[in-house]
Amino acid sequence: MEQPNATKLKVGDSKRIITNQDGIHDKLEAIVRKHLSHEFKKPYQQHTEKAFAEINSIVQAFDGEIILDACCGVGQSTRILAEQNPQALVIGVDKSANRLTRNVAGDWQSDNYYLIRADLNDFYRLVKAANWPIKTHYVLYPNPWPKSKHIQRRWHGSAVFPQMIQIGEQIILRSNWLLYLQEFQLAASIAGKTGEITKVVEGQQPLTPFEAKYQSSGQQCWQLLVKNTKN
Ligand SMILES: C[S@@+](CC[C@H](N)C(=O)[O-])C[C@H]1O[C@@H](n2cnc3c(N)ncnc32)[C@H](O)[C@@H]1O
Repeated sequence: MEQPNATKLKVGDSKRIITNQDGIHDKLEAIVRKHLSHEFKKPYQQHTEKAFAEINSIVQAFDGEIILDACCGVGQSTRILAEQNPQALVIGVDKSANRLTRNVAGDWQSDNYYLIRADLNDFYRLVKAANWPIKTHYVLYPNPWPKSKHIQRRWHGSAVFPQMIQIGEQIILRSNWLLYLQEFQLAASIAGKTGEITKVVEGQQPLTPFEAKYQSSGQQCWQLLVKNTKN
């Protein structure tokens, strides 16, 4: 029976990504190099600073590993990761209050997680400055921004990429758009990191509603793993 207010994402009819790019964006390398050599000075938004200060005191008092679930949407992956990693503190971050407060269907037993409303363009910089001991940094199905002119809205084209790429001993990025991961992989290599792209294995519990939607539409989901061992 359908649960009232349960997370609803139409499954089975997800459109494939349509882009006007025929390969890696021709300005990507220049954009990444510019961001790596210029400090991102935009002032923090107050709501993100406040949200960070609250969760930062919990993180600083926690003596264990931290898992960051960036762009967590409704927080399904945050809850799954919390159950799978009972020893860890799992922090899901999304800018959308609407998504974060939606009910998620599931039988969740763990309470070792927090869902935080914040803008990651600011939150990432605060996390980096506070040097959180993040074991794994997940970015699952970020908005693809497939139009060429929107390259700087993709995480690897954003001004916060230099901080983002240094967060976590490893970064796990998933998308149904292989080119997104190939671009991120190239950007990571410019920042001195290596990453490996593999197919997301089907038949396991999808980590997120978007993963479930793409898989039930017959779309291949991809994963990029970036190791950041010197962090
Ligand atoms: C395509 S959804 C994927 C959500 C979830 N990971 C999933 O797979 O179901 C992308 C999410 O990224 C969030 N997002 C985009 N830009 C963000 C930002 N600057 N800060 C925080 N969240 C952001 C959106 O609000 C949205 O929930």
